Amino acid sequence: ASIDKGLYAHYMLKEIYEQPAVIAETLEGRIHKGRLLEASFGHETTALLDKARHIQIVACGTSYHAGMVARYWMEEFGIPCSVEVASEYRYRKVVVPEGSLLITISQSGETADTLAALRGSRANGYIGSLTVCNVPESSLVRESDVCFMTRAGTEIGVASTKAFTTQLVALRLLAIALARRKELSTAQEEAMVNELHALPRQIEVVLQLADAIKTMAEGFVDKHNALFLGRGAFYPVALEGALKLKEISYIHAEAYPAGELKHGPLALVDESMPVVCALPDDPLLEKVLSNLQEVRARGGELFLFSDHKVNVGLDHYQNLTLSDIYPGTAPIVYSIPLQLLAYHVAVLKGTDVDQPRNLAKSVTVE
Ligand code: G6P
Repeated sequence: ASIDKGLYAHYMLKEIYEQPAVIAETLEGRIHKGRLLEASFGHETTALLDKARHIQIVACGTSYHAGMVARYWMEEFGIPCSVEVASEYRYRKVVVPEGSLLITISQSGETADTLAALRGSRANGYIGSLTVCNVPESSLVRESDVCFMTRAGTEIGVASTKAFTTQLVALRLLAIALARRKELSTAQEEAMVNELHALPRQIEVVLQLADAIKTMAEGFVDKHNALFLGRGAFYPVALEGALKLKEISYIHAEAYPAGELKHGPLALVDESMPVVCALPDDPLLEKVLSNLQEVRARGGELFLFSDHKVNVGLDHYQNLTLSDIYPGTAPIVYSIPLQLLAYHVAVLKGTDVDQPRNLAKSVTVE
């Protein structure tokens, strides 16, 4: 991939706009006519998936958030899955259920904690290790039993964007493969594969909301805090949205599973607290709407991203609608406007978007 930012003002913006192409690239050769092409994973990988009874995901930062989304996907198909940040996992005594497969997720393949977790896992009785990684010659790729490459190309912006969404695509493919070993029907598989196939086009449409998101961003420039809410697989999407905002705009942002609002963060909500929420048309919608009602009752300003079928029905809010999003891949699509929101807030604040203070692209020492 080219590492020239071309006409884009920042690498991060370029990388956000590259997502339709790199997602298509990550799917290339791995699906065909509504089916997953498992042969493309390699024999060793499919043999490991055959044996896997439990998945343990270990990662850091944005890659950890991708792992959290994957857990919702895997458990939906009856595949037990645990997720932990590498810096905790590596130092505690862990109980590894029989038939566990270790999956590390990393853009760089060089994150010290993730690498240490992999190395430390060898004595723990795993059936093997798989890394979802973006850098072919990296340490994690060399030291894992098998790898599943994301094909995001070089990512320069410290705040990860295209690496994250390609990780989600890779994890969704792995979830389909594991689900095949459970109760997945051909029709279900076709539906899941077609949803993935539709992603580049859907993301192109979402990218056209950029100007509206820029306007939304103005509501954050003079704020010191922001709250991101989500439920189900959109809770990790909220975590990732909050992480993006704090990394590059230096606004303190916190993400909460919306149902936990009443157990603490509601105390912080007043007119000076912008609240961001993804409102997909899913079974938890009514619950989320009632959580948002609580926010409105305390004067919190709402910034929503909703499905066009959703009737928000609150008294005051800014809303951007996304159309024709499929439930299985919605966490991927909804991540895009949150990346753009963080980007535009940072640009308005004049921070160093690609090289935020105190942060490194790859944390290779502890
Ligand atoms: C650093 C980067 C993050 C990244 C994390 C994990 O903190 O600034 O963007 O998510 O490391 O990196 P990895 O390369 O393992 O995905």
